[in-house]
Amino acid sequence: MKKLAALFITLAVFSGGLTVYAGEAAKSAAELEKEKAMKEPYANDFGPDKIDAAAYPKEAQEGYKLLQQKCTVCHTASRPLNSQFVEADGKDGAARDAAAAKMLKEDAELAKNKNVWQLEGGIWQRYVKRMMNKPGCTVSKDDGKKIWAFLAHDSRERKLGKNKAAWKAQREKLLADFKAKFAKRYEELYAEKH
Ligand code: HEC
Repeated sequence: MKKLAALFITLAVFSGGLTVYAGEAAKSAAELEKEKAMKEPYANDFGPDKIDAAAYPKEAQEGYKLLQQKCTVCHTASRPLNSQFVEADGKDGAARDAAAAKMLKEDAELAKNKNVWQLEGGIWQRYVKRMMNKPGCTVSKDDGKKIWAFLAHDSRERKLGKNKAAWKAQREKLLADFKAKFAKRYEELYAEKH
């Protein structure tokens, strides 16, 4: 009996230790991501961390709320909200790629200023997935779909059409301020893309 009790105690202590160990390993991986996100700034980070999504489709509005809750663990919402990424519209990946190619052909300004408009068929889909793969990210598959819907819709709404010139001015100001403050990081991120 005593032996059995000792065995149970040993097992309990051992598995407790394992849980703590696994917990710490997970925490440090998530913390490393956060440290990396803070240490390496983007021009995006110095713009507003809120936008008005009240007129957006329902799924995009939900995505905006989720972004504010879950994409702000390692960096602020400014990072996605002031990004140069623009996703073209279409019913599937091939249609979105074709739409992006057409827009770039028809509007030379878009193609010429990659730091202001980086227009691709699936750019937000790809980046949401990339963020979801990071340790410490709590975005579920369903959340991810809504956040993607928001970012894709928002990128066309706020960066193109009637808001195109205002977006260009806002983004160019962010880039100029960033260049003055973080010359080396600017080189790394933006110098070759003009
Ligand atoms: C676990 C930490 C973490 C979470 C959560 C997170 N990010 Fe990030 N994010 C990073 C790090 C680190 C970088 C730096 C570049 C990289 O590693 O890709 C980054 C960079 C970015 C960039 C800049 C990419 C570029 O090259 O211009 C965007 C945009 C972005 N994140 C959007 C998001 C969105 C949207 C979400 C929510 C779906 C999110 N992030 C959640 C850590 C995180």
